[in-house]
Amino acid sequence: MTTPVSSELGQFIPLHYHYNMLNDRARMEGFRAALDYVVRPGAKVLELGGGTGVLSFFAARHAAKVWCVEKNPALAQEARRILDLNPHGDKIDVVLADAFDYLPPEPVDVVICEMIHVAMLREKQIPVIAAFKERYLQRFGPPLPVFVPEALVQAFQPIQHPFTFSGYFAPTILFQDPEATHDDTAPLSAPIVYQTLAYDETLPARCEWRGTLTFDRAGDFNALRFITKNVLAVLPDEGRTIDWFNQYLIVPLAQPITIGTDCQLPLAFSYRPGDPLEALRPVIGEA
Ligand SMILES: C[S@@+](CC[C@H](N)C(=O)[O-])C[C@H]1O[C@@H](n2cnc3c(N)ncnc32)[C@H](O)[C@@H]1O
Repeated sequence: MTTPVSSELGQFIPLHYHYNMLNDRARMEGFRAALDYVVRPGAKVLELGGGTGVLSFFAARHAAKVWCVEKNPALAQEARRILDLNPHGDKIDVVLADAFDYLPPEPVDVVICEMIHVAMLREKQIPVIAAFKERYLQRFGPPLPVFVPEALVQAFQPIQHPFTFSGYFAPTILFQDPEATHDDTAPLSAPIVYQTLAYDETLPARCEWRGTLTFDRAGDFNALRFITKNVLAVLPDEGRTIDWFNQYLIVPLAQPITIGTDCQLPLAFSYRPGDPLEALRPVIGEA
């Protein structure tokens, strides 16, 4: 039996999981700082995929009007309830709609979209924003609004990882907190950037890399670690960006390979943004 796309994890995020997102300090502080910078007093703002409404709340502290679009009816209802418990809720319209279809009633200055999973898998950030820009330009013409996040940098890194849990060896996909140190993971080279994009430019149909790996140290190469950096805002005057990293994703290889520092290995992977995790299958030896 195939799972309908609308029920796939990533498209449908249960209410209790939103607690983890609200509790993720790096995510919350990053978005709050970015929205404090990007949303000018009196701005019009659209949020695609509003969840509990928290990012719309950050925006509404400066904006004149916010449209917060959420397609899960239970969440849209919960967002309305929670927003009404906070200041500025009166400036926010919660709209029960699909972000693939919705357009605001008038041009907006800022679009917030956080449908982001590590490696841009599972959630539909890139296709949602690509479709939105096309419809928006048809209806309102240029300029496009500023996007939060503004840009994306994706990298991967060959690693040696034990995959042992209280003595149980389980080489399976896993996640790592980007803020923590991971002494059991041995990087075998520096991270390799495989994709950069700015949301106001043409967006890619695939996330992919094909090339030859070289290694800084010898070891048992048994996994790739994927690193997703979201550039929430660019602050040119201060010469810095406000960034938020997703949880790292570790994908085990089908077969570990013992490598030396002089080793070179062809590697390739290719998947569509929004694909399920299983679509990310590194192929070694056919680059
Ligand atoms: C990762 S959550 C982020 C929620 C909120 N923006 C936040 O930062 O806490 C993504 C949200 O997008 C919603 N969503 C997913 N696909 C959607 C779609 N096509 N249209 C509208 N909302 C969607 C999900 O239900 C979920 O609430």
